[in-house]
Amino acid sequence: MKDIFEKIKANLGPIGEHAKESHGYFTFPKLTGDINPHMDFRGKKLLNWSLNNYLGLANHPEVRKADIEGAERFGLAAPMGARMMSGNSDYHETLEKGLSQLVKKEDTILCNFGYQAMVSAIDAIVDRHDVIVYDAESHACILDGVRLHMGKRYVFKHNDVADCEKQLERATKLAEQTGGAILVITEGVFGMRGDQGKLKEIIELKKKFSFRLFVDDAHGIGTMGPNGGGTGEEQDCQDGVDIYFGTFAKSFALIGGFISSSKEIITYLRYNMRSQIFAKSLPLPLVYGLLKRLELLNKHPEYRTKLWETAHSLQKGLVEAGFNIGDTNTMVTPVYMNGSIPEATNMVIDLRENFGIFCSMVVYPVIPKGMIILRLIPTATHTSEDVKYTIESFSKIKDKLYGGLYQADKIREGFSQAL
Ligand SMILES: Cc1ncc(COP(=O)(O)O)c(C=O)c1O
Repeated sequence: MKDIFEKIKANLGPIGEHAKESHGYFTFPKLTGDINPHMDFRGKKLLNWSLNNYLGLANHPEVRKADIEGAERFGLAAPMGARMMSGNSDYHETLEKGLSQLVKKEDTILCNFGYQAMVSAIDAIVDRHDVIVYDAESHACILDGVRLHMGKRYVFKHNDVADCEKQLERATKLAEQTGGAILVITEGVFGMRGDQGKLKEIIELKKKFSFRLFVDDAHGIGTMGPNGGGTGEEQDCQDGVDIYFGTFAKSFALIGGFISSSKEIITYLRYNMRSQIFAKSLPLPLVYGLLKRLELLNKHPEYRTKLWETAHSLQKGLVEAGFNIGDTNTMVTPVYMNGSIPEATNMVIDLRENFGIFCSMVVYPVIPKGMIILRLIPTATHTSEDVKYTIESFSKIKDKLYGGLYQADKIREGFSQAL
């Protein structure tokens, strides 16, 4: 008989198996200092392109002040208990009203964690007779929500509306047999490739099929649309988004999330979402800090303008320098290159140690073998000098990569000493 611990020790998982070499550098790196484009990593100041602090609110002086005030006024413990039992407050309800206005929905429920909110909302909305149709490149929280579903699910090829239609045909046939309904789930902004979900086109399919659309807009809230109301606002189709999810972990630079929809659906979620009924509500200082962030987001559209200026100049510069940035049409900027995992790791070491640039690296098994993505996340706080320096540095590392300088046998000659 196997011992569970022995089994785990023998297989630490696709990322965990590299923990020995990667921990503290590629995985679990410690970025210290105030959150801004220049942060400390292993005793050096690096230009940082890895945080979703899109609007620069994380270290905004008014935000820092509100966060302190909130902690002083309420303490970190309040309110104790779940919203339904003993954890409600006027502040929670005021924030829900403000978010409903931002995303143009009737009502909103605050959630203590974004990830759990998605999982738990999917779980609450569908029953075993219902059918889920979802994008193949959905975030893990959608996949986990779908995993909880006791009924059928059909996956459509990433952002392929024709395939979505095909899956809706299958789903419709099945739902007619089971007496269930259909929920389509996709994202507003796909955080890896930076492409927008084709919300408008999916909504068009409502003319042919009966379904409701649930959109995870974790990256889109605060960044997309003229008012920062998200990808539905950007594509002018927010009315067709039946259930809208946003996180506080990115533009809002805090933690938690929210779901917005019609009054009836939010009332249903308040009384049926297990992750909220059976878990503590968002602490008051966080809600207080979120009210300040929402106020700034509404009052300062120029933060969004600045984010987009930086994103556009970064992307234009990279393309002009011959880089492949795929089909991003948002601020998320993946830079695609080809090479092995050792080449990718050597390149990132060089980038951090010699060029002073910190960004995330994505390799197999997250993407196909032989492919490397360096993902750049522009924010409102990056400068044109940051952009210029990054494009110049990327051009140099690309030349080194394709000149074979990062090959495994060259490790000793330079870069690996950093580790
Ligand atoms: C698309 C998407 N959905 C959901 C989440 C989870 O949000 P949170 O970090 O608030 O739990 C994330 C965060 O990484 C995300 O990128």
